[in-house]
Amino acid sequence: MKNWKLAPLALGLIAFSAASGQAGADSMPQLSQDDLQERIAANRDAIQKFASTLQGELMTAMQSGGPTEAIQVCNERAPAIARDISAETGIEIGRTSLKLRNQDNAPDRWERLTLQGFEAQHTAGTPATDLPPRFGVVESDDGDPKFRFMAAIPTGGACLTCHGSDVSGDVKHALERLYPDDQATGFREGDVRGAFTVTQEM
Ligand code: HEC
Repeated sequence: MKNWKLAPLALGLIAFSAASGQAGADSMPQLSQDDLQERIAANRDAIQKFASTLQGELMTAMQSGGPTEAIQVCNERAPAIARDISAETGIEIGRTSLKLRNQDNAPDRWERLTLQGFEAQHTAGTPATDLPPRFGVVESDDGDPKFRFMAAIPTGGACLTCHGSDVSGDVKHALERLYPDDQATGFREGDVRGAFTVTQEM
């Protein structure tokens, strides 16, 4: 499960996203370098906290009750951990994907563009573990400018139990019960599974 690794988040590796320069960019508020770096650091911390808390609980559940118990963790704890972090930090955090298990995680416009950007970069040869995060001030679907930040999530070997193409009977049934419209199987190790996504008020 140590495959649950974030793309490198060192400042030097971060590239501004093409998607963040979309229509309306000229009228978007500008951030000072200090403000930008502070936000990047805070968003990165929130993502790391979300990832490590979830990973810890997932591993514990896998060991104590196997994948069907771990499905409960993903189902109940993933959104709860995200809510706790939001309440604590004021940073709205979640996970999203182009192939969804839970429709509650559906991407909005910018998230979809950014996920497509990750996919394109991955297809062009960048390993999913090395995709730099994308961020910027973005006009949200409700019209307000928000600071957005996304980090790609690579598919590790341990993810395949529940997201691979050969999901076992028990796991399959448990998933079907909770997610009748599940699209999040058929992944291979090294694929982009999705992304962590952060939204911050300006
Ligand atoms: C024990 C089964 C299980 C394992 C193992 C597992 N997942 Fe999931 N995953 C789920 C479930 C269940 C959900 C739906 C969570 C929800 O309802 O928000 C989910 C949702 C997700 C989502 C949110 C997007 C969506 O499709 O709704 C991402 C991203 C994700 N998983 C990535 C991973 C990665 C990366 C790994 C490996 C490190 C992994 N998962 C391992 C069961 C699992």
